[in-house]
Amino acid sequence: MLKVISIFGTRPEAIKMAPLVKKLSKESDILSKVVVTAQHRQMLDQVLELFDISPDYDLDIMQQGQTLTGVTVRVLSGLEEIIQKEKPHMVLVHGDTTTTFSSALAAFYQQAAVGHVEAGLRTFNKYSPYPEEMNRRLTGAITDLHFAPTQTSMDNLLKENIPREKIIVTGNTVIDALLETAAKDYPLETLLPGVDWSKRILLLTAHRRENWGEPLGNIFLAARELVRDFPDTELIFPVHKNPRVSQLANEVLANTERIHLIEPLDYLPFVTLMNRSYLVLTDSGGMQEEAPSLGKPVLVLRETTERPEAVEAGTVKMVGTARDKLYQVGAELLENHLAYREMAHAVNPYGDGKASGRIIDAIKRHFA
Ligand code: UD1
Ligand code: UDP
Repeated sequence: MLKVISIFGTRPEAIKMAPLVKKLSKESDILSKVVVTAQHRQMLDQVLELFDISPDYDLDIMQQGQTLTGVTVRVLSGLEEIIQKEKPHMVLVHGDTTTTFSSALAAFYQQAAVGHVEAGLRTFNKYSPYPEEMNRRLTGAITDLHFAPTQTSMDNLLKENIPREKIIVTGNTVIDALLETAAKDYPLETLLPGVDWSKRILLLTAHRRENWGEPLGNIFLAARELVRDFPDTELIFPVHKNPRVSQLANEVLANTERIHLIEPLDYLPFVTLMNRSYLVLTDSGGMQEEAPSLGKPVLVLRETTERPEAVEAGTVKMVGTARDKLYQVGAELLENHLAYREMAHAVNPYGDGKASGRIIDAIKRHFA
């Protein structure tokens, strides 16, 4: 019997690993175990509950205001004993967080094979996104099977001399999760009664480390000015629980007319909210994949992206974090219906909802 351990710890990893873990648990020839590092606590638990996942191990490492080193050390030492005891054929990790890299390293130290889900995304800029670009590259260096979501990500890996037979283009599991969730609907009016739903909804999220401080301040100021100047808009900002983000968000945006600072939403209401939005402003990685497939224009609040596909398809625009530029691009889309319509078309460069099945098939072939 093939033993596979899936390890994840943050909200986006959990969303993107959930469909895979659910499918793995139904395979008769695979013994599937789940370890959560709980690098995130509440934001992880929201996802575990929605997808009804009960981890076999929970390292429960999150601390308030944790450092990268602290997370790395706690994941590494927490996983040593588990991997030693379980002796899996393969450890599956996801994406680019500190949980991802530390878990891959912990598996390597025990000489367990590593499968990297969402492999090969690159900006080629060491510090943007920071530390995600290096987390992903370092994980790739340890990986035995690379599950690349797109041809572009596979090409990045080939350029790094990864052998062709170790790379499988699978699509992104985020689309598996999204399609399953978007098929349902959530009564947002009950959840957020203070919002005037007849207006155009602007959805804002931001959390990246390279945006902490002044860039985040610029983003918030530009968002505030946009809402002030377009009275037919309401801005909803589910604020990330990182105190570096929430403190500044409250300083700049609290108690402002038509701006709603709310707690992080469960995935189902959040997907419903994306679907009800007119425009998405974000520095999130996952939302650059989800919003285009829902036909929602996205302004990316970052200088670089490791997800060029939707930019090329025209539904995502890189705007960076300069206050004037963000205001200008946002205002143009709110004023000019033609420009808006050109961006608002559904594209799906990231997958067809069947990525998890392809990953499992590839794992079986690898060990056959
Ligand atoms: C992390 C990932 C980032 C990912 C993001 C997704 C790293 C280095 N960063 O960033 O790649 O895009 O998650 O959201 O791996 N907190 C809570 N409750 C929660 C979650 C966070 O209170 O459920 C607070 C804690 O004070 C914690 C802080 O947020 O210390 C930062 O969490 P951390 O995982 O270190 O960084 P993120 O900014 O969330
Ligand atoms: N998300 C959510 N609730 C929220 C905000 C985001 O469920 O209040 C989901 C979103 O749909 C996406 C993921 O969380 O799938 C993105 O997480 P985040 O922006 O924290 O991380 P990133 O994608 O940048 O790694």
